[in-house]
Amino acid sequence: MQRYVEGKRLEIKSLTERDSFRRDFLGNVAHELKTPLFTVQGYILTLLEGAVNDKQIRMKYLDRANKGVERLVAVIKDLDMIAKLENDGMKLNVDVFNILEVIQNVIDLFEMKAKKRNIKLKFDKIYEFPVFVKGDVEKIEQVIINLVVNSIKYGSPNGTTIIGVEDFNDKKFILKVIDNGEGIKKEHISRLFERFYRVDQSRSREQGGSGLGLSIVKHIVEAHDENILLKSTYGKGSEFSFTIEKAR
Ligand SMILES: Nc1ncnc2c1ncn2[C@@H]1O[C@H](COP(=O)(O)OP(=O)(O)OP(=O)(O)O)[C@@H](O)[C@H]1O
Ligand SMILES: [Mg+2]
Repeated sequence: MQRYVEGKRLEIKSLTERDSFRRDFLGNVAHELKTPLFTVQGYILTLLEGAVNDKQIRMKYLDRANKGVERLVAVIKDLDMIAKLENDGMKLNVDVFNILEVIQNVIDLFEMKAKKRNIKLKFDKIYEFPVFVKGDVEKIEQVIINLVVNSIKYGSPNGTTIIGVEDFNDKKFILKVIDNGEGIKKEHISRLFERFYRVDQSRSREQGGSGLGLSIVKHIVEAHDENILLKSTYGKGSEFSFTIEKAR
């Protein structure tokens, strides 16, 4: 009887937790959508009320409304990706590929964005040979993109992001993305990979983040049965790394 009661108590606890988690999640989603939506609405209403007749203001407000829409699209894309990852238990398209090519591709994609903050993106060394790994190439690219974009957003201006691949053990490599940016205080580290978690709400929002990037990273890495690791010193910089299977 006692065991039965204890069992039920745990069940109720887990259901209550899940329910509060779901409520938090809905609240977060609503909030993330509300902010840009009200921005868009504000500019459109002002245009309708007459601002449309002023050619200069018209362009400025349309441009701002468009930025708000872009933000909405970005949040919805991330939510959509998370929903997919959580629903199909993530189907992986596993292939053998050269991870150096994927890294180079990400560097090429984000060089301009990095330049705007005067941040250099580079490999840790010159690689003479390809590094073949096994995984879902598109999803692994998404992981590298999210980590590199973070290193640009939270890196210090004039800083450097260094990307490297090393042996982790016989069967695995480890890929590291290292920045010399603001770093992360210890108390945040355990929660950083949660959906919507941001260290500094205002700064992160100014950088256009909704706090979904790292939860996507964690999902993808864990679906590969691999680990994501984080070392960071507040004020000095951060090192995000994940393991990946070697291809034989
Ligand atoms: N390289 C980093 N250096 C310092 N802080 C970081 C770094 N990467 C992430 N963070 C912190 O972790 C938080 C969560 O990161 P995450 O990528 O999940 O969300 P985001 O970048 O705010 O938004 P999104 O990725 O959804 O656009 C960030 O808001 C930031 O505070
Ligand atoms: Mg991010």
